[in-house]
Amino acid sequence: MRVGSRQTGGVSLPLIPAPTVLTLADGEQYRVPEDGELVVSGGFGEVGEDASYTLSVTAERGIEFTANQSAGAQAASATAMQLLELSVDGVVPALEIIDAPRYPWRGLMIDISRHFFGPDTLRKVIDLAARYKLNVLHLHLTDDQGWRLEVPARPELIERSSSSEVGGGPGGFLSVADLAEVTSYAAEQGITVVGEIDLPGHTAAALHAVPGLNSDGEAREIYTGIDVGHSTLRLELAETEGFLADVIGALVEQTPGDFLHVGGDEVRLLTPEEYTAFVRHVEALVLGLGKRPVFWQEAAPALQDRRSVLQWWDSNADPAEVIAAARRGHQIILSPGNRTYLDMKYDASSPLGQTWAGLVDVRDSYDWDPATVIPDLPPESILGVEAALWTETIETEDDLFSMLLPRLVAVAEVAWSAPDVRDWEAFAEDLPAHVPLWESRGLAHTERPLPGR
Ligand code: ACM
Repeated sequence: MRVGSRQTGGVSLPLIPAPTVLTLADGEQYRVPEDGELVVSGGFGEVGEDASYTLSVTAERGIEFTANQSAGAQAASATAMQLLELSVDGVVPALEIIDAPRYPWRGLMIDISRHFFGPDTLRKVIDLAARYKLNVLHLHLTDDQGWRLEVPARPELIERSSSSEVGGGPGGFLSVADLAEVTSYAAEQGITVVGEIDLPGHTAAALHAVPGLNSDGEAREIYTGIDVGHSTLRLELAETEGFLADVIGALVEQTPGDFLHVGGDEVRLLTPEEYTAFVRHVEALVLGLGKRPVFWQEAAPALQDRRSVLQWWDSNADPAEVIAAARRGHQIILSPGNRTYLDMKYDASSPLGQTWAGLVDVRDSYDWDPATVIPDLPPESILGVEAALWTETIETEDDLFSMLLPRLVAVAEVAWSAPDVRDWEAFAEDLPAHVPLWESRGLAHTERPLPGR
């Protein structure tokens, strides 16, 4: 049953992902001091794992929380911020929240290769993601159209292949200092940056910068279209293994956390045997450097080590190999295109976006259960949920936020809250209350007529 977010005693709490338990003490309230600091007091105690926390608001003691890990303190303070932003004339209703995330991986992927988005935009994305208690920012750093990761051992990658993007724009890249700044800014807000070097396909930018990665030894032309499947690395070429060691080594050094994404999607130029050998080479390389590799779903049959993670994305595909891999012990991140691909159009009239996974309106992003979205997938194999924003059609910061908002809020709730505390009607009714928050930060959003209300 959902208890939260409904109008109670004249006060509604729409910005909180449906918590496990929320009780409102009718009539009682806490008045935020008008002058002087607001004190949100916290303590570490035994309230469960990871981002779990309890939070109470009382007339006498104000806002207090308990968490036993810093992730819980981050989540509690995000909730406290929500309460304060919502407070009318500084009055917060007295309440008690006991809250815990459903999944440990609550992610957002941004493609900064097809169109480049730099640290300023990424900081806004991080602020927004933290606000909705996401804890992973997955950066898609390389693709056919541009290489965005500075690799000190391979300066030609950014010298030759960062000044391009879809449609011929100027591109750009994250220097080592930029990525360090972005990852520490994210870490301060409880978000881990997971970088992706997409391999062995989606590599035209690498093939342009490094001639020896091509079978004929000739550098490829810059590619600024939006087709996929026309580029690949080849393990049998002398240059390839050293290249992989350099670029993966650089990303291991430049990103924190246990995971590193190495792609594996849409490879159409290798035989199944060549593809399997490539995946296994990269899997061993990443594990040898102390990280757990994440691959897109296509790598499922090739994986050899249970520490490797798979990310489900193509909701039109047969999931049999992913289910089999989960049964062999691999964990799965769920990014079903027809639910969480926020580059899909909202409806047929959306000016931006694609349609290959269908139209994805707010309700599609909200009204699904990760535990049943792939029938027969062992629910205990689910590591989490991730929204994805590919940027083939996304050129500006306003484009980007208008695709994220409002759907990111819906996916964040799916990642945090179990279906028994979620309710589409209530969510749709509450959504307009988020708009002032986005507007106060200058973030664009898409107005949606909310169906089914
Ligand atoms: C993907 O959307 N090709 C992972």
